[in-house]
Amino acid sequence: MKPPLLIDPFNRNLTYLRVSITDRCNLRCMYCMPSRETIPRLAHTQVLRYEEILRIVRIGVQLGITKIRITGGEPLVRKGVYEFLSELGKIEGLTDISLTTNGVLLKDHLAQIRDAGIKRLNISLDTLNREKFIRITGQDAFTQVWEGIEAAHHMGFAPIKFNTVAMKGINDDELTDIARLSFTYPFHMRFIEYMPIGDHHLDRSIRLLAPEILARMSPLGDLTPIRRSRDDGPAERYRFQGARGEIGIIQPLSNHFCHLCNRLRLTASGQLRPCLLSDRQEDLKGPIRKGCLDGDIVKVFLEAVRFKPMEHRVDDVRQDEVRDAMSSIGG
Ligand code: 5AD
Ligand code: SF4
Repeated sequence: MKPPLLIDPFNRNLTYLRVSITDRCNLRCMYCMPSRETIPRLAHTQVLRYEEILRIVRIGVQLGITKIRITGGEPLVRKGVYEFLSELGKIEGLTDISLTTNGVLLKDHLAQIRDAGIKRLNISLDTLNREKFIRITGQDAFTQVWEGIEAAHHMGFAPIKFNTVAMKGINDDELTDIARLSFTYPFHMRFIEYMPIGDHHLDRSIRLLAPEILARMSPLGDLTPIRRSRDDGPAERYRFQGARGEIGIIQPLSNHFCHLCNRLRLTASGQLRPCLLSDRQEDLKGPIRKGCLDGDIVKVFLEAVRFKPMEHRVDDVRQDEVRDAMSSIGG
């Protein structure tokens, strides 16, 4: 019998699985880990083993998952990640494997990433200034990151997408310079509204909303909207005339893209989450470690899908919906 597809009660067909392979990170970005010193980390035994992740992914693929993104924490800090990526690359039916990274460890590992069949990278880039990088991430690693970016570009990774969390008084004076990179490179520069996620969110006065972000772009010329395609994800896409790359704006809190959301998330601790912005999750690690059958994993997938909310409920009033840190969910 053909296994069922992952179709939720609102008729969305979930084909995209984001997999966090670790909650650890070599940076401490202020919007992700506001309480820099006191992040409880998962014990090693609480984190899914690579074989466990691969088993879940294989079953997901039978249920119609075609697209995977590997995230963290920072995925490249986990031991054995390149072998894992190459195993992932062998799974038939996965047509798209991509990686989200902060770029710190990128430069020396690009060949291994490419050899695993990964072409698409998402890299965090909140500033082009070394001092400010230290302020935002807690580490003096801007040069390393930039070298990784240049090297990835020269090796032919494409598209390379950048995530910039727009923060008033922190990097808003640089948004124009960051957007300007889309003229020089075929990069997709994506600006994200800060989301109040996790227990200790930042002062919300740093939030910069989409219209203000777009206003920072105006010195560079007119932005022409690019028509969305089905697989676009949450970014509103634009292009400057004559630019090689694109600009994207991601407004996590205005829920206008929930109706298009085709994602599920697997956390580092083996929980399947139907929505980034809700703490509801289904446990996979427990049953797997008790020796469950593949059919039981299928049931957990279907249960998660059944509870995918129509839209998220995080807004200025209800910030407490999501208590888990971004670094443990994987963005
Ligand atoms: N708000 C918006 N974006 C966030 N990210 C992490 N935390 C937040 C937050 N609180 C995004 C960053 C980072 C990616 C992994 O997740 O853009 O690059
Ligand atoms: Fe690490 Fe990414 Fe979180 Fe920054 S946003 S601390 S790079 S996991």
